Amino acid sequence: MDYKPVEGIIGRYQGKRTALISILHDIQDHYHYLPEGVLKKVSARLEMGLSNIYGVVTFYKSFSLVPKGKHSITLCLGTACHVQGRGKILREMTKLLNIEPGETTRDKKFSLQVVNCLGVCAIGPVMLVDGRYYGEMNSLKAKRIIQKLGTNKGGGKA
Ligand code: FES
Repeated sequence: MDYKPVEGIIGRYQGKRTALISILHDIQDHYHYLPEGVLKKVSARLEMGLSNIYGVVTFYKSFSLVPKGKHSITLCLGTACHVQGRGKILREMTKLLNIEPGETTRDKKFSLQVVNCLGVCAIGPVMLVDGRYYGEMNSLKAKRIIQKLGTNKGGGKA
């Protein structure tokens, strides 16, 4: 595995431990997950215990220890979004991508996850795609966004 990007990311944050979460997010954006070897590198560079880093990684649902798809789709299933019809959107997503929440398509193009709140309830139902928030979603809008990224013609789970 090429660890050069890890050095670059840590360097961007001047190797500050307080930037751990941002560092992990940037690393995950690069590799699409947090490989064990990379976490060991982060542990050594920030002089932090590996168990502490794993503690952070496992606490936040947005981090993944298994490879994810190129495009990350997060759908909010929180109460505020629920009231406004997120159930239909989830059904459309699982049908379109042929995966369930927590899974990645076989072609490693898409990962689908659900959360209980994305912190932007006022614009719900909300979907987060590759770090960009899409508000006032409906199943048709969601489908169009995914189709723009290229649907999962190969279908199926990873
Ligand atoms: S409940 Fe969906 S963003 Fe808060």
